[in-house]
Formats: sequence, structure tokens, C-alpha cells
Amino acid sequence: MAFLLIHLHGKRADSLSNQMRQTKAMAPKYAVKWWKARNLKPPKIQPVEFLKRKIRWRYARGIPKSRAGKAYLGDSTSVLASLKGKLTGRGLRRPSLLLTSPPYFGITNYHYDQWLRLWLLGGPPTDHRRSNPYNGKNRGKFANRETYQHLLTTVFQRASKLLKPDGVVYVRTDRREPTLAMTKLALRAAFPKHRLQRVNRPIEGNTQTKLFGNGDPRKGEVDLVLARQKPRRLTRGWPTLEAARRFWVAHPCELCKGGAGFR
Ligand SMILES: C[S@@+](CC[C@H](N)C(=O)[O-])C[C@H]1O[C@@H](n2cnc3c(N)ncnc32)[C@H](O)[C@@H]1O
Repeated sequence: MAFLLIHLHGKRADSLSNQMRQTKAMAPKYAVKWWKARNLKPPKIQPVEFLKRKIRWRYARGIPKSRAGKAYLGDSTSVLASLKGKLTGRGLRRPSLLLTSPPYFGITNYHYDQWLRLWLLGGPPTDHRRSNPYNGKNRGKFANRETYQHLLTTVFQRASKLLKPDGVVYVRTDRREPTLAMTKLALRAAFPKHRLQRVNRPIEGNTQTKLFGNGDPRKGEVDLVLARQKPRRLTRGWPTLEAARRFWVAHPCELCKGGAGFR
């Protein structure tokens, strides 16, 4: 099913659809108009051969060796709360990595943009939001600042209670504001003893989204990585005056700002 869902739509002749983005499904009327204007016809594909090729490629380097894991489907605010204190009872160990990508503020309605994949999973054959029974509080465009901040803060707080104290947090998010500032705020509140590092992740080359004339929403992605700080020895064991000088330069205090100390 995962292979069907991934390749359900995407590049023409490299997916099961006519030309479409892989990340988002276009609305039916829009898609047909777009294909007609470009005289694009659905490709002729042998679905079994096509999927076999994709499966062979995916597992060409073997199947990941992972210990038995568990997947929980649901709203992370409630799923994480329900796991608190019950990890060992469920045969689970405290995780050492939190890897996630929360929704980006005001960019995507994940249910609207994934209507075709949701249909394959048993949803209605329509992109209409009103007739979609999957509507719910976390299923809009995440465009209300208060609700968005509350969602991020709650989820990271609850995840922090499950993670090992020296666990690593890895978050892929939008480089644009207000997503970035709000995500940092929630992460710092939930992991006050961790140090936050930012790694920019620009996407190079043409993307499917560019082909459809839109700006690429992934252009501005960023990774926020948090790890516990190693305790620093600040006062003992400075071997040389040079080491002391470097420390003062890196950590200027009120006195040295006034001209005293090492410069
Ligand atoms: C930026 S996307 C990340 C997608 C993910 N990396 C993937 O490859 O499927 C954010 C995802 O969070 C989901 N989401 C939003 N609110 C949620 C919640 N309260 N609990 C669980 N998932 C949620 C959205 O439906 C969306 O699939």
C-alpha cells in the first residue's frame, strides 16, 4: 500500500498518473484543464511491472535492520499524553531520538492537498472540504497563531517527558516566519537544557512544484537540531594564559566590555 500511495501521482511516466506533483494532488477540474491545455495524456503503464521496479529500487541496498518498533496513529497531543508513564508496561524503552516535521504555519491543508491518497485509503472521491468527513481541529491550514503555538508547545512538552534526558531532537521545518520563531520558542521551552543548532536545507535543482508555476514551498527549509550541552569547566584547569584570554574573548563580561580584561 505504501508503494501505491507514494507513486499514485507524480511525474508522468514515473508514477501511476498523468503529470502531477508528487507532494500534492491537484483538484480534479484544475488537473484536467491543465492537462488539456498541454495536450498531456495519461501514460500507458504496466502497473505490476512498474511497482516491482520501484520495490526493487527501494530495497536494492537491503531491508533496514530495525528492532521491533510500534507505530501509533492519531493526534500527537493525545497519543503522547497517553504514553506517559506507560512505556515499560508496553514493552517500550525511552527513545533517544525525536525526529519530526510539524506542520508549517499557514502553508498547507494536508487533508485537502492529499485528497487523492486519502481516497485510496477509503476517503471520499472528492477534494471538497465541506463534504470531507476528515475535517477537524488540526486539519486546516494551521493559520491561527495562538492555536499553532499551543499545538507546538504541547506536542514538544509531551515528547520531552518521554525522551531520554540526553536524547537528540531533530526537527525539519520552514525557514520562513512565523513558523521558525514559533517552533524555536516551543523547542526551547520544552528542552531548556539542550543546545539548539540550525542547519539550512536549500533544495537545489528544479522541482515538480516549480513546473506548476508556484514558488517551491520547500525552498526555505531548515533543520533545528537540539542536543544536551556538555558541562563546561569554566574556572579550573586553565593550562595557559592564552586559554584564559580566548575564554574572555568568547565570553565577554560586563567588566571586560568596559575595557578591562583580555582583548
Ligand atoms: C510538515 S508535514 C510532515 C510530513 C512528514 N514528514 C511525512 O513525510 O509524512 C506535517 C504533518 O503533520 C501532520 N499533523 C498535523 N497536526 C498533527 C497532530 N496534531 N498530530 C499528528 N500529526 C499531525 C499533518 O497531517 C502532516 O502530515
